[in-house]
Amino acid sequence: MINISVLVSGGGTNLQAVIDNIESGELSGARIVQVISSKEGVFALERAAKAGIQGKVAKDTKRLLDQLAAEKTDLIVLAGYMKVLEPAVIQAYRRRILNIHPSLIPKYCGKGFYGKRVHQAVLDGGETVSGATVHFVDEGVDTGEIILQRQVPVEPGDTADTLAARVLETEHVILSEGIKKVMAQLPEKGGL
Ligand code: GRF
Repeated sequence: MINISVLVSGGGTNLQAVIDNIESGELSGARIVQVISSKEGVFALERAAKAGIQGKVAKDTKRLLDQLAAEKTDLIVLAGYMKVLEPAVIQAYRRRILNIHPSLIPKYCGKGFYGKRVHQAVLDGGETVSGATVHFVDEGVDTGEIILQRQVPVEPGDTADTLAARVLETEHVILSEGIKKVMAQLPEKGGL
């Protein structure tokens, strides 16, 4: 059984998608051992509590590393996590940290590209196609190796809100698919 720690900072709809996919059997062989938020009082922690998953807040790297180790974390999933992880975390979990980004990396990503800003930039760029990306997290911002991408059409008359909502639906699907793909490659699973 692969132990997943999910890191959050907000509403947690991506966390919810992973919870639901584990409960439905869509994502088997994994369990969420904890949800760690970068700040208090976010709805993602309520989602964890409802699912019977322990929720914690870690505001510094030492506490984060201690909590990750305490639950024997095999994979870290960043699901709407708004902090940049310190190199110590990247080094401790090389190629075991996944992030979901709401654009087709390498476009519209990196410092300052998060939330609605991503979708507004896509519209301002006159794009007819956007999408979502699951990628490994390395020392850069949204620069790690791409695991999975899926395109999402930009519709005429789209606003940042309508595009965000359409992309979010795809995020919810490909995050679990990305986790499955990485799990299959883990040495513990006889992977590469
Ligand atoms: C999502 O658009 C995700 O791509 C980004 O944060 C947003 C909020 O996600 N990283 P969630 O609803 O908190 O999962």
